[in-house]
Amino acid sequence: MSTHTPAGRAPKVDLDTAQAAALAYHCEPGTLKDRIILVTGAGEGIGRAMALALAAAGATVILLGRTQDKLEKLYDEIIAAGYPTPAMVPVNLEVATPANFEELAGMFDREFGRLDGILHNASILGDITPLDNYGYSTWDSVMQVNLNAAFYLTRAMLPLLRSSTDASVLFTSSSVGRKGRAFWGAYAVSKFATEGLVQVLSDELENTTAIRVNSINPGATRTRMRALAYPGEEAMSVTAPEALAPAYLYLLGPASRGVTGLALNAQA
Ligand SMILES: NC(=O)c1ccc[n+]([C@@H]2O[C@H](COP(=O)([O-])OP(=O)(O)OC[C@H]3O[C@@H](n4cnc5c(N)ncnc54)[C@H](OP(=O)(O)O)[C@@H]3O)[C@@H](O)[C@H]2O)c1
Repeated sequence: MSTHTPAGRAPKVDLDTAQAAALAYHCEPGTLKDRIILVTGAGEGIGRAMALALAAAGATVILLGRTQDKLEKLYDEIIAAGYPTPAMVPVNLEVATPANFEELAGMFDREFGRLDGILHNASILGDITPLDNYGYSTWDSVMQVNLNAAFYLTRAMLPLLRSSTDASVLFTSSSVGRKGRAFWGAYAVSKFATEGLVQVLSDELENTTAIRVNSINPGATRTRMRALAYPGEEAMSVTAPEALAPAYLYLLGPASRGVTGLALNAQA
């Protein structure tokens, strides 16, 4: 059996080791310098907080989101903080086609020549209701945004990820994507499928590339989506998105080399 590890790849890290390292991670300034990282759903919530944290750690972030003025506000904030100049791509993932993602890949190729990471963060909740009432069009929208668009985007970006010497693709899951729960409908099913996508893709890439692929469950986090799902909850009792940065920076940065095919949590 060969003990050769191809250039850019590291020996595989087990789940417990990776999980402990993710939660304890402290990212020194400049750790992500010169990395080009695409964040979907960057306009608000966890995506916005993680885009800022990535930029603060030195990454050039590509801010993808549905609402242009939210992206512009974040862009200005990143510039004002003196972080690397980001890029902005307003895209509605519910209607974007594979051809649109190929066009985006061409644009990134001309601008950057590679991609060092993708944080697949954008999602919609759909309805919290029994399956026998679940709206067909809501089901389709949730699957399109949470799953299909993430696949289209990843497939289109693979050549750019292959041009990186150390790339990380991080998909966002949920507790209900790891254990099904009544009434969570398409959202839960889309997150189970996301975990499947992580397993298939990481297995395909593990022995041939320097691209690692993992999922992260943010856990209960104070955002618009959380408030929609739990309207009676006292918002301030829930973790702020900024607190998730250690695990996300670990998984998107150089510290997680060798971590692939794993389902991790951003909170203990
Ligand atoms: N918050 C939690 O407690 C929690 C728990 C488990 C998992 N998660 C997961 O964590 C991720 C982030 O959630 P969040 O709580 O931060 O949600 P959020 O506050 O609702 O933010 C979601 C982001 O996704 C974007 N988005 C939604 N539909 C889009 C579309 N069609 N095209 C492009 N962008 C779109 C939104 O854009 P606009 O701002 O333009 O609407 C927004 O910026 C999601 O994958 C979610 O499933 C969250």
